[in-house]
Amino acid sequence: MPRGQFITIEGVEGAGKSTCMDLIAERIRAAGLPLVQTREPGGTGLGEDLRELLLGHRHGGMSDDTELLLMFAARAEHIQRVIAPALQRGEWVLCDRFTDATYAYQGGGRGIARERIAVLEDWVQGGLRPDLTLLMDLPVAQGLERAGRRSAPDRFEQEDLRFFEQVRAAYLDIARAEPARVRVVDAAPPLAEVSAAIQAIIDDFLARHG
Ligand code: TMP
Repeated sequence: MPRGQFITIEGVEGAGKSTCMDLIAERIRAAGLPLVQTREPGGTGLGEDLRELLLGHRHGGMSDDTELLLMFAARAEHIQRVIAPALQRGEWVLCDRFTDATYAYQGGGRGIARERIAVLEDWVQGGLRPDLTLLMDLPVAQGLERAGRRSAPDRFEQEDLRFFEQVRAAYLDIARAEPARVRVVDAAPPLAEVSAAIQAIIDDFLARHG
């Protein structure tokens, strides 16, 4: 049984990750492939509890290193209990955010050196990396405007414009460095156009791996 494919979705707040997740899940299932749909931080009982601590306001003064380590603690649990077993069973895994978000938010946003994140990435993930990543890209102000209309801001959403500009820049740096894995989707055009771009990417991927 061949290993399943590991697909991740990334982007700043309000860039339309959920729409992208739904569309991709639908295409994979329509191709008759078994799919596990999950998210980070989260995806396990412990991971969802850590998500609450990370996104909630109870520990507003959390240090940057603590935040980074909690992200990877949740990820370790997620990989060992959900992602790796599913891929081994030949199932596909579609994950709303993964380690690129750590490089973007804790690296770009908080300013933690990428080398330190890379140590944790190698430790926690071994050789596991996504096979395909869709980066939903949108000017920061536009994304925050969309996200702000949805709900009260969580601990990340309350950061300022400068923080999110750094997050976006870090994401785009990753995309430039790894063009074979990371496909950038311009999330600014009308939904029909964005959907068509996402479908083209996933159909091309399915044609090669499905
Ligand atoms: P979301 O997935 O619902 O958009 O929210 C998750 C938040 O957590 C989002 O603001 C990005 C942040 N995050 C990090 O800062 N680092 C990470 O490694 C991950 C997975 C998420």
